[in-house]
Amino acid sequence: MKLPQALTIRDLRLIAQDKLPRSVFGFIDGGAHDERTLRDNEADFAAMRFAPRVLVDVSQRTQAVELLGQKLRSPLILGPTGMAGLLWPHGDLAMARATAAAGIGYCQSTTSNCSIEQIASEGRSDHWFQLYVQKDRGITASLIERARLAKCPVLVLTVDLPLQGPRERDVRNGFTIPPRIGLDNVFDYASKLGWLWRMANGPRITFGNLDSATDAKPKLTTLTARIAAQFDASVSWKDLAWLRAQWPGKLAVKGILHPEDARLAVAHGVDAVIVSNHGGRQLDGAPSAVSALPAIAEAIDGKVDIIMDGGVRRGSDIVKAMALGANACIVGRAGLYGLAAGGQAGVAQAISILQQEIDITQALLGLPDLSQVSQRVIF
Ligand SMILES: Cc1cc2nc3c(=O)[nH]c(=O)nc-3n(C[C@H](O)[C@H](O)[C@H](O)COP(=O)(O)O)c2cc1C
Repeated sequence: MKLPQALTIRDLRLIAQDKLPRSVFGFIDGGAHDERTLRDNEADFAAMRFAPRVLVDVSQRTQAVELLGQKLRSPLILGPTGMAGLLWPHGDLAMARATAAAGIGYCQSTTSNCSIEQIASEGRSDHWFQLYVQKDRGITASLIERARLAKCPVLVLTVDLPLQGPRERDVRNGFTIPPRIGLDNVFDYASKLGWLWRMANGPRITFGNLDSATDAKPKLTTLTARIAAQFDASVSWKDLAWLRAQWPGKLAVKGILHPEDARLAVAHGVDAVIVSNHGGRQLDGAPSAVSALPAIAEAIDGKVDIIMDGGVRRGSDIVKAMALGANACIVGRAGLYGLAAGGQAGVAQAISILQQEIDITQALLGLPDLSQVSQRVIF
């Protein structure tokens, strides 16, 4: 079902806000501390200006790229985002299916609600898997093995979350997993009947990759508490070397902002570096991802692929990131707003909006083949 009132990702965001309880919307929309980095991610894209060329034949256009051995119809991957099942029942599956239909990439999170096996059998067979190293290295090893058995072509190691960033919106809104209805928020929930109905009829919210199917009813908890208890804050470059030796497929490291870390990652044998500040959800005051990109592109000097994420709300943002050296972009919230607004159809709409915006941008820039984009398109 298409949402006719949504022309843009920002429209989908407003619909998501309307449909979700305040605490759940705050969880996807919010960032760390004063949310400066969150805002800068978008503002620094908005401040860039194009340098269009004219009288170029743009009657035939392609935005297809090859990335980490996969052919993508657009330079776009729906990023790893935990707890998508809180937005729509089987939210991870909806994202896997919508991305497969649109010919773009999909990366499943360690903290997704569906399991790796469920995505591989019911969603798509070539999804990427994102790893958070767990204190229990047995669990970590088993996640890697499950991703290998599920034939995930790419493993993404996220390195910017030794502890969860301080999300004050979540604390103020009393966000817990599963969400809790109390006297303080009962009126808010009562105004979200569609969401309540879907959740009541959907599957129980569990961490599909971490909870055992036979676990008793999960305890009400904050994500921060769960992460502090289970995620390993001691992870270092030694662990990346270990992982490189374990993992036979393509390996990407996500959360790089410093050129020296980019060089170290390449020296450790990664196949791609993901320039990211976790969508402004970790260190507030970190640079916007797009402002960190040029120095990293220079450090990497074409040795491995570069993916960037953070603040992509328009197809033109993706073109700008590619002009500065990215091979593709991940989107987090753009897909989540679509998911909350309309399930799989809403995700498909978010992707289609971005694809159409890329297309018109490259046409008006005089750029028939997006893979040939360079810094010349930026003033
Ligand atoms: C609700 C939410 C959950 C996320 N969960 C994860 C996660 O489990 N693993 C991860 O590597 N990144 C996670 N991220 C970060 C995204 O992968 C991505 O880096 C970020 O959303 C990009 O910024 P954008 O939302 O502005 O596109 C999450 C982001 C959001 C908004």
